[in-house]
Amino acid sequence: MSQSKLELGVFMPNCSNMPSISTHAVVADQWHYATNERIALLAEQLGFQYLFPVSRWRGFGGESNFLGTSLETNTWAAALLRATQRIQVFSTVHVPLFHPVVMAKIGATLAHMSGDRWGLNVVSGWSEREFGMMGIPLAEHGRRYERTGAFVDILRKLWDPTAPPLNHQSDWYSITEGVSLPRPGRMPQIANAGVSADARAMTARYCDWCFMTGASIDALPALVSAVHSDAAVHQRQVRTAIFPFPIWRASTAEAEDELARIIEHKDSEATANWLRDIGAGSGSFDTFTENMLAASGGGLSLVGTAESVAEQLQAIHSAGVDAVMLTFQDYERDLQRFGDDILPLLQRMQIVDTQGAQHHAS
Ligand SMILES: Cc1cc2nc3c(=O)[nH]c(=O)nc-3n(C[C@H](O)[C@H](O)[C@H](O)COP(=O)(O)O)c2cc1C
Repeated sequence: MSQSKLELGVFMPNCSNMPSISTHAVVADQWHYATNERIALLAEQLGFQYLFPVSRWRGFGGESNFLGTSLETNTWAAALLRATQRIQVFSTVHVPLFHPVVMAKIGATLAHMSGDRWGLNVVSGWSEREFGMMGIPLAEHGRRYERTGAFVDILRKLWDPTAPPLNHQSDWYSITEGVSLPRPGRMPQIANAGVSADARAMTARYCDWCFMTGASIDALPALVSAVHSDAAVHQRQVRTAIFPFPIWRASTAEAEDELARIIEHKDSEATANWLRDIGAGSGSFDTFTENMLAASGGGLSLVGTAESVAEQLQAIHSAGVDAVMLTFQDYERDLQRFGDDILPLLQRMQIVDTQGAQHHAS
């Protein structure tokens, strides 16, 4: 069980229609860079530790075209790293779309621009809609993660100042006397998103973070313990994060009504398109209902009053989860409300560390 503090991040709206596959109360221009920058600065001011984007190349159709308009995450991260001062900013990269030598240089550049505040989230790819659009074949689920393992292994060796020039031959890459200068000042944090056995096996060997999907708070202890025990096989430690979607109102009934409205207006076509591809060969979404997926795109909806949402976050912390990447309906409005309503409760519970927060005299 983890007794370090629960770290706070924002799963940022660099894509349209975050966080729900629904047409209810969509904030139309939330994905714009200017909005993302204001959210980033607010998160930093509140003492959050991470900003974290979604990488998408095409939406999921239906009335919402869920995530259909999106900002590319390396360029997005570059701007946000320069706009902020302390918070860590990840980019999210589809492994088959970037050569690791190219990614090593992009990452080193972002690290140098930011005093080593950049981190990398690797995703192996699963959307036939986007890979098919580019004529890039999608490998079988297990093989995707084998490739991602090779990709991260190459990055780590190129970034390691003690490693010799890299010679690597695999089914995916052929690298001769590989070097990439400059290197980051320190090894960037590397996360993998996915909690299937295939994902965990790769994460255990090569990554620092496992970004997980769990259908309920009760499901989390088993997921966390599987991630920890797989990592222990390699004498490594891997930290865990999930992405909750808090909806809080003055009463639980009001919050439940809002969730019901999101589900009432769910985009069934986009949800089906999304689930067909992401669920294939995974197993990670078997216990999600279609409504749960539509409500928060695979995240965990936390519904109730501010007190109840704080208690649910405390339960997530007690389950051993190290960090939460929060999604919000209206990010600017709700992140500010989170700072006003819920953060003080978490601070009183002593489960978060927001020492970096900027306090304003009132
Ligand atoms: C927090 C989180 C963020 C993710 N971000 C992306 C993303 O930006 N782009 C993407 O294509 N997939 C993303 N995914 C999907 C994962 O890459 C993966 O397909 C999914 O978690 C299922 O993996 P699994 O079958 O190995 O459990 C994300 C998943 C999680 C949990």
